[in-house]
Amino acid sequence: MSATRVVVFGASTFSSLAWYCLTHDSEHEVVAFTVDSAFMTGSVHEGLPVVPFEDLSVACPPDDVQLLIPMGYQQINGLRRARYETAKSQGYRFVSYVSGRAGVWPDLQVGENCLIFDHAIIQPFAQIGDNVIVRSGAIVSHHCALASHVFVSAGAHLGGNVSVGEQAFIGLGAVLKHGLAIAPQTFVAAGAVVLADTEADGVYIGNPARRISRAARETI
Ligand SMILES: CC(C)(COP(=O)(O)OP(=O)(O)OC[C@H]1O[C@@H](n2cnc3c(N)ncnc32)[C@H](O)[C@@H]1OP(=O)(O)O)[C@@H](O)C(=O)NCCC(=O)NCCS
Repeated sequence: MSATRVVVFGASTFSSLAWYCLTHDSEHEVVAFTVDSAFMTGSVHEGLPVVPFEDLSVACPPDDVQLLIPMGYQQINGLRRARYETAKSQGYRFVSYVSGRAGVWPDLQVGENCLIFDHAIIQPFAQIGDNVIVRSGAIVSHHCALASHVFVSAGAHLGGNVSVGEQAFIGLGAVLKHGLAIAPQTFVAAGAVVLADTEADGVYIGNPARRISRAARETI
């Protein structure tokens, strides 16, 4: 079977990481990058052509390529969600990347446009929605449910049966006690230890985590 031809969104360091992982640790072939034309800084990235996203459906139509959108958590994952939904409405399909160095099990349920990086552990009975990123060394324990558009940073630990709502962000090294419900668009700061359910759009910081004003965190 021939390799799936993939276009990677972005020309950032994170896009380079995704390109490297797909190239060295998947059967896919990256053929181009795509960037919003307003953010184009060059026509080549990692030796491959960079196509304006606005022109992608002509240059690389949906029946010829699939996409991978490895964007970060800007606007609490809203930007990645928006590009994913735009591309989906244009008829694109998406690959997902699960590192060969991740700790995963048979019957893993992962949606489309997901990236599961090296040494992440996804235990049996965990479920991962669409457009989810789980960074290196994160632990997603048994029966966790990550809704779509979630970002779990490196080294975060989720106890068993944690549900994480759409677009939530879990920071570097955060700890989430077993059984919690993390509401949609919750922002859990780096190193926070979350011991109770969160409220939608809340920003949580510290040990034990407390909710702080979002107004003080305009940069998220
Ligand atoms: C919570 C966060 C958004 C705050 O960012 P910010 O608004 O730029 O905050 P500042 O760096 O100006 O710090 C403001 C105050 O909060 C404290 N603070 C910032 N982040 C903190 C954290 N994660 N835990 C505890 N305290 C924190 C600072 O020490 C500072 O305290 P002070 O006012 O007493 O000096 C940010 O620190 C954070 O945790 N981002 C997530 C990073 C991450 O996990 N990235 C993933 C990369 S893949």
